[in-house]
Amino acid sequence: MTEQRTHQDQLDLVRSRYADIATGKSNSCCDSTTESSAGCCDEGATAAIDLRTAARALGYTEAQLAALPIGEDLSLGCGNPLTAALLEPGMTVLDLGSGAGFDSFIAADQVGDSGRVIGVDMTPEMIARARANAADHPHVEFRLGELEHLPVANDTVDVILSNCVVNLVPDKAQVFREAYRVLRTGGRLAISDVVRVGEFPAEILADDASLSGCISGAATVDEVTRYLREAGFDDIRIAVNDRSGEYIKEWEPGSGAEKFVQAAIIEARK
Ligand SMILES: C[S@@+](CC[C@H](N)C(=O)[O-])C[C@H]1O[C@@H](n2cnc3c(N)ncnc32)[C@H](O)[C@@H]1O
Repeated sequence: MTEQRTHQDQLDLVRSRYADIATGKSNSCCDSTTESSAGCCDEGATAAIDLRTAARALGYTEAQLAALPIGEDLSLGCGNPLTAALLEPGMTVLDLGSGAGFDSFIAADQVGDSGRVIGVDMTPEMIARARANAADHPHVEFRLGELEHLPVANDTVDVILSNCVVNLVPDKAQVFREAYRVLRTGGRLAISDVVRVGEFPAEILADDASLSGCISGAATVDEVTRYLREAGFDDIRIAVNDRSGEYIKEWEPGSGAEKFVQAAIIEARK
C-alpha cells in the first residue's frame, strides 16, 4: 500500500495489526514474527527483555506496575502518560486507544473505588482482552469505538490519557475536537505519543508496518499544537523526549525511525 491510503484503508490496516497483536498472532506493532510484547513496535532487540524492564524504560514506576492485573503484559505505549496525568481519587478518566488496558488499570488504581476509568479502542480483539482483565475491576470499563467518534457523553471526563495512539488516526483534528467535547471544563489531556521531527523518506511513507508501528502517521509539534488550539484547548504544552531515540531505534531496526520521530508528552486544558 502507498501513502495514498484512504481514511478507511488506514483504519482497516491499523485494526488488523492490533487484532493480531491482541490475539497473539503477532506480538509487535511492526511485524508478525517476534516475541516481544513490551513497547510499541518493539521487535527482536527486546525479545529477551521482560515487560517490567521495558516498561521501566518508558518511565513506569514499580508502584504503577504493581497495579496491573496478574498475567497482563501487553504494553504498546511510547512513554508514560500517567506522569503528567496527576490523577486523584474520585476522578473520571478516559483512555483513548486503551489496547489491553495497561494504562487504564494503573489509572484505576490511582482514582480508587470512588473514581472510574473508561477505555475506548476500535479493535474488538483488544476490547475483548481488556474486558477479560477487567473482571475484577468494577470501576474500569472498555468500550468499542473510534477516537473520531467517541462513545462518551459531553462534559463528563476529568482527565484524558492516551499512549501511542493519536499518530495512528487519520483525522487527528477530529480526535482533539472529540476530546474537548467529552472533557469537563477544567479537564485535562495527558497524552504520550510520537511527534514527527524530520521528513519521512518515501519508503517509510509507503510501508504499512511503519504506519501501524507508530512511525509514519506522526504529526509535528506545530501541527498538534494547531489541532489542540483549534479544538479550543488552553495551556498547551508539548515536551519532546530527546532521549526516546534510544528505544525508538529498536522499533524497526535499520529504518532510521529515530531520526524522524521522537516521543512526547502532550498536555492541554479545556
Ligand atoms: C500502539 S497501541 C497502544 C495501546 C495502549 N494505549 C498501550 O499503551 O498499550 C494502539 C491502540 O490504538 C487503537 N487504535 C488505533 N487507532 C484507533 C482509532 N482510530 N480509534 C480507536 N482506537 C484506535 C488500536 O486498536 C490499538 O489497540
